[in-house]
Amino acid sequence: MIGRRRPGLAVLLVGVLLVVPGLDRRTTVTAASPTATDPVSVRQVILGSSVVGFGHLLGSGHAQPFETDPAYRQLLLDHFDGLTPENQLKWEVVHPGQDHYDFGPADSIVAFAEEHHMAVRGHTLLWHNQNPAWLVADRYTDDELRDILRDHITNVVGRYAGRIGQWDVANEILDDAGNLRAENPFIDRLGIGIVADAFRWAHEADPNAVLFLNDYNVEAIGPKSDAYLALARDLLAAGVPVGGFGVQGHLALQYPFPSTLEANLQRFADLGLDVAITELDARMRLTGDPTDTQLSAQADAYRRVAEACMAVKTCTSITVWGAPDTHSWVPGFFTGEGGATPFDADGNPKPAWDSLQETLGRLPG
Ligand code: XIL
Repeated sequence: MIGRRRPGLAVLLVGVLLVVPGLDRRTTVTAASPTATDPVSVRQVILGSSVVGFGHLLGSGHAQPFETDPAYRQLLLDHFDGLTPENQLKWEVVHPGQDHYDFGPADSIVAFAEEHHMAVRGHTLLWHNQNPAWLVADRYTDDELRDILRDHITNVVGRYAGRIGQWDVANEILDDAGNLRAENPFIDRLGIGIVADAFRWAHEADPNAVLFLNDYNVEAIGPKSDAYLALARDLLAAGVPVGGFGVQGHLALQYPFPSTLEANLQRFADLGLDVAITELDARMRLTGDPTDTQLSAQADAYRRVAEACMAVKTCTSITVWGAPDTHSWVPGFFTGEGGATPFDADGNPKPAWDSLQETLGRLPG
């Protein structure tokens, strides 16, 4: 064990075994109230981080911090209860040739998580980005394409069955108006039916994993989240094993906070789904170091996200995307913006981290 994580605030109880739905993680909580005699069930929100690597870091001097930087691993261990491979389970990394899988990078993350009793989210199986050239070459019949997806899902989900508790099965399949995205190579050819099949195949490969729809710009109630609600309802009515709705949570301080977040999460929970904040960050426009005003606005945004999740009973996890700031995807994708994660370039916690911890009822750390 390289490091120790601190117990969550579930601090009121002695030796209660918490089982978080959908995340196969059990936490024994020690603690506090000498008068507590009956075990009371306390919900704990898993606080996770993506494990950076591949993707935007490929050309940088720190492309694989998980493999090469002990301080990075220590940050994960010291502060988080869950991990999401940031790119290591995307098609271009895990399935680079039609007959070639490379499970190495994801395997080491899953093994590390297991060793340290951390939950893992799988990301992702059906997406329009980061697909290998062989897949998008447009040389397959519809049936062949369908078989390719089925084999991929069966192999990837099957490999980690019982070890990855949640999967983002379908990522970003709707556009901002709520229409199916034609850029998705599977949906373009096979229509919405392939989404239902993807969930069915994932469920066959691991009946215990909770299977998510996941997207950005769905924090607030609006046309896009409305369309997801309708889609989730339709899929559930057809018996498709959708188990969760993931809100990525890529926020920006220059836009208003999505104040309907809690109500939005709740309406998905009301369908019987788990919900999760899957890629949380809050970026800002930067000309130098963040100002105190920016840091405190950011802390406020993180706090409000955590409050919304805590208020919705089936909100199981919050995952920060790519901490610390040096490893974040934001500067490479949003010109002039950065500072989006709760850890600064030196790996020190920012006010956003304190507000997250406090709101989730965790001990500082
Ligand atoms: C990003 C990664 O962080 C980058 O490293 C990569 O270059 C591109 O993808 N929505 C998603 C994530 O679902 O997979 C994306 O991750 C960020 C937006």
